[in-house]
Amino acid sequence: MKKIYIAGCGGMLGEAFYIQFRNDYLLKCTDKDVNEKWLSFLDFRDYEAYRKDVLEFRPDYLFHLGAYTDLEYCELNVPMS
Ligand SMILES: NC(=O)c1ccc[n+]([C@@H]2O[C@H](COP(=O)([O-])OP(=O)(O)OC[C@H]3O[C@@H](n4cnc5c(N)ncnc54)[C@H](OP(=O)(O)O)[C@@H]3O)[C@@H](O)[C@H]2O)c1
Repeated sequence: MKKIYIAGCGGMLGEAFYIQFRNDYLLKCTDKDVNEKWLSFLDFRDYEAYRKDVLEFRPDYLFHLGAYTDLEYCELNVPMS
């Protein structure tokens, strides 16, 4: 079975990916908010921890879904050049 590592998997798209791929692939689904039993903790802002987790799992594919998706937060906190 091929393996997929999914970072930032606890959101809307992540759950859809999990449902779509869970029967045909070995999944490792991570997020910083572990609110489902199929999720494990990873805050991908910690690059070394992210790298180590991915290398240990040795996935065939890596999907990075996590992002700042709160527009109000982004407007207030992300500098515009
Ligand atoms: N939904 C759509 O229809 C759609 C369509 C096209 C493209 N996209 C893109 O797909 C991506 C995901 O969208 P979404 O709708 O699934 O967003 P979402 O529901 O907000 O999910 C994003 C996930 O990323 C997690 N996350 C954020 N920062 C993290 C970090 N530092 N470490 C680990 N996890 C982190 C969030 O955790 P917290 O909740 O704890 O912050 C959340 O569970 C975005 O880039 C979006 O622009 C979405």
